Amino acid sequence: MSHKESLFLSGDGSHTLFSTKFGAHYHSLHGAIDESVHVFIIAGLYKLVRQSYTKIRIFEMGFGSGLNALLTMLETEKFGIEVSYDTIESDPVPLSEIEKLNYTELLSCSGSLLTELHQASQNQYVKIREGFHFRKLIGKIEDHMFDKKYDLVYWDAFAPECQSSLWESEIHKRIYDAMDDYGVLVSYCTKGSFKRVLKGLGYKLESLRGPGKKREMIRAVKCPR
Ligand SMILES: C[S@@+](CC[C@H](N)C(=O)[O-])C[C@H]1O[C@@H](n2cnc3c(N)ncnc32)[C@H](O)[C@@H]1O
Repeated sequence: MSHKESLFLSGDGSHTLFSTKFGAHYHSLHGAIDESVHVFIIAGLYKLVRQSYTKIRIFEMGFGSGLNALLTMLETEKFGIEVSYDTIESDPVPLSEIEKLNYTELLSCSGSLLTELHQASQNQYVKIREGFHFRKLIGKIEDHMFDKKYDLVYWDAFAPECQSSLWESEIHKRIYDAMDDYGVLVSYCTKGSFKRVLKGLGYKLESLRGPGKKREMIRAVKCPR
């Protein structure tokens, strides 16, 4: 193991992890579930639900604890939406740490759902629940060759202060090319340099209210030129 994680209780009572390798928490300390629901589910997924998508192709940068994937599965199940969910992770969290997380308890869902996501075979689609097709890519996003188009991107990398290259043009040009027209990218990061990267690539940016006390978050839409 190249790094260790330790468990923290965030402001909404849900756990988060701290990565000693990257020197960062996986979620906001103000509320891990609150942040994921606000940024990825409400601002991202629900936008496509409102647009009556019945099939959604999602790409997540940073599988981490699996919280975003779990929330997405629970939400899309309610709407009967078919999902293909691709997520990439360079440093998988050991199952022994995942088993300590209180997400399934707080979300009142089966305790096995999160472990199923973590135990899913790598690099191939696994049907976790009816309509939820999950592909866990293990490796660095820098080395990943995109092989399909996406409707929705959850950009959940550690902050630019920890991993600046993941917020720069080079990688985001590849993400932009992997998105379908009207594809949506959501992120908690509102740094000016990141917004300029997204604008420069051709996204239309929306500044939305952030989770908790955060003033802002970003939603970017790939509008056809
Ligand atoms: C903010 S955390 C993601 C939190 C996660 N989405 C969740 O729901 O718990 C960022 C994740 O990106 C992973 N990561 C860091 N560098 C990476 C890289 N170059 N390629 C792929 N994953 C990376 C980290 O190991 C970490 O799990």
